[in-house]
Amino acid sequence: MSRIGAPDGALCGSVARMDDLAPDSPQTGLHLTDRPAWGYLLRDFLEMYRIIPAGGSAKIRAHQRLVREKITGVLRANPPLRVTDAATKPVTGHLQRALDQGRGTPMSRVIRSIDGLAGQLSWQYGYDKVPRGLDQKYAYAELLGPTGPVQSDQIILGLVLFAPGCIYPTHAHDGITESYICLSGAMSQNDQGVYVPGSMIFNLPGQMHRITVADLEPSLLAYAWIGPPEKLLSQKMVFSRKPRKTL
Ligand SMILES: [Fe+2]
Repeated sequence: MSRIGAPDGALCGSVARMDDLAPDSPQTGLHLTDRPAWGYLLRDFLEMYRIIPAGGSAKIRAHQRLVREKITGVLRANPPLRVTDAATKPVTGHLQRALDQGRGTPMSRVIRSIDGLAGQLSWQYGYDKVPRGLDQKYAYAELLGPTGPVQSDQIILGLVLFAPGCIYPTHAHDGITESYICLSGAMSQNDQGVYVPGSMIFNLPGQMHRITVADLEPSLLAYAWIGPPEKLLSQKMVFSRKPRKTL
């Protein structure tokens, strides 16, 4: 998914006194351990990247190990927590259904953690101009990354929510290795296979990919991006009107 700019609603007026600030304002100097629910969510991501099989792929196994190492480093560092104002998008009307559908799956643990933070997530488009129709059917919420909420320049973790029938256009990520984990619903990438909760998709840097979602149920995915700090900070979505036939 795309990088976002400065989080919305994160600034308070310079004349505000400390006790006027929202309790989770960035100016209050919060760190990860001050809000245990965020730490539990990161631990559940860590566990997800431990239990999901690598399918015999050395590259996927190495990616999963790297994601675990980065998350472990974040947990040890207890970084600043920049909890921004919650933001919704039209697609978040499907979030409760997606969470409910994910409860009876192997992903139930992380689903519970997400549900506990659902009221705090800041759902974004990540584009100056959202492709037509996508504004109703897609949004993502970053959990960990250079702009937070949990701050790290080593890895980005987030969630992406698709409405039923969403077609997410062909895109690639410059210098970023990406994995998607299906948490709820059913989706496909490049018309190659169908992914259900507990399945992982792995995209090497620059690999073009297009996502389609089942007609009647939403799909919630977790994603992890690994790459050099400068790439994580400046990542932009790259669209293509020429989908590759083979990947
Ligand atoms: Fe992607």
